[in-house]
Amino acid sequence: MQDYRDFLGEVLISSENLQRRIAELGEQISKDYAGKGELLLICILRGGVLFLTDLMRQISLPHAIEFMAVSSYGVGGRQSTGQIRISLDLNVDIFNKNVLLVEDIIDSGHTIAAILELLSTRKPASLSVCTLLDKFERREVEVPIKYCGFSIPNKFVFGYGLDIDDYYRNLPFIGVVDLDRYKHD
Ligand code: IMP
Ligand code: MG
Repeated sequence: MQDYRDFLGEVLISSENLQRRIAELGEQISKDYAGKGELLLICILRGGVLFLTDLMRQISLPHAIEFMAVSSYGVGGRQSTGQIRISLDLNVDIFNKNVLLVEDIIDSGHTIAAILELLSTRKPASLSVCTLLDKFERREVEVPIKYCGFSIPNKFVFGYGLDIDDYYRNLPFIGVVDLDRYKHD
């Protein structure tokens, strides 16, 4: 396995900038949901994990967390195909709850669109999306985003929850991959 420094093109978002923006998001979410009833954050595994754990520490309201996992078929894991399968569903009823989906990145939009479609059938009080990153140039289906950390250019990024072939999620910053220097083994 390569050291990430061997293929890091540039640090797109530093750890400090991530944490500063996440504090702002947490404050905004705390204001918006105050007095609105039960708040449930649903993290989409696995990319959203680091974002969730930092974000929830910046939310001053009582809230619960849950996890879902989805897999998309085909194309080597670098892009989704629109064919989404729920591989881990919720263990709780979301009826009448304020649900906020916590995602690492919205790219084509297929993943989050499929999750929104499924969860809306379960009649939550509200259903919204909070994404750390928005790669808006790649959108294929329109998705409503209530909270967005950063809009980013159409580049493959890694770190802070986002993987390249399942690795490098632990890095505290968002980096851009230089694909010419990345060796897939
Ligand atoms: P979408 O369904 O195309 O919106 O894809 C969303 C998923 O693709 C994310 O949850 C990520 O797992 C993955 N993804 C998209 N772009 C990147 C990237 O630049 N780096 C790492 N993962 C990505
Ligand atoms: Mg991924």
